[in-house]
Amino acid sequence: MFAWRNDALTRAMSLDPEPIAREAHERWLTQTLQDPSRTLYVAYRGQAKVGMCRFDRSEANGSALVSINLNPAFRGQKLARPLLQQAMDLFCQTHAGPLEATVRRDNPASVQVFTQCGFELRRAEGELLHFVHTP
Ligand SMILES: CC(C)(COP(=O)(O)OP(=O)(O)OC[C@H]1O[C@@H](n2cnc3c(N)ncnc32)[C@H](O)[C@@H]1OP(=O)(O)O)[C@@H](O)C(=O)NCCC(=O)NCCS
Repeated sequence: MFAWRNDALTRAMSLDPEPIAREAHERWLTQTLQDPSRTLYVAYRGQAKVGMCRFDRSEANGSALVSINLNPAFRGQKLARPLLQQAMDLFCQTHAGPLEATVRRDNPASVQVFTQCGFELRRAEGELLHFVHTP
């Protein structure tokens, strides 16, 4: 996940494009795994890690913010949609609220994947598109 996060495309599509240091990543991961409002799934194909999908629940309005990142070695193979769909299916077994996603306008693959999984564009704000999936 550290390598995926620092991949050039991931950084270009991220809200924070700066590279992350290993120690900062490990602190973030430790906190994330302990945080009950966060759920992190890693998808495997056999022994290989294909990508991750994270859900950050908001106590304020009961929604969860979704983000997805594929292992660069598995991009361009139409695996993002099944990864997101399977992660949503798992997460929604215990979460009834809406899901939200913020995607950069210049990220057509991500727009396509969220749209195919039932997300709808709610508003555009500069470079960013805000999507919502209602249960
Ligand atoms: C976004 C991401 C998950 C998509 O995964 P991917 O493997 O690159 O995408 P796929 O090959 O599965 O393609 C997804 C869809 O987008 C389409 N697509 C890909 N590039 C496209 C482009 N430049 N223009 C239009 N459509 C495009 C594909 O054709 C496919 O649609 P289809 O199934 O209808 O043919 C992956 O690129 C990634 O991890 N990017 C870095 C992190 C990121 O951007 N995360 C999203 C922010 S929340």
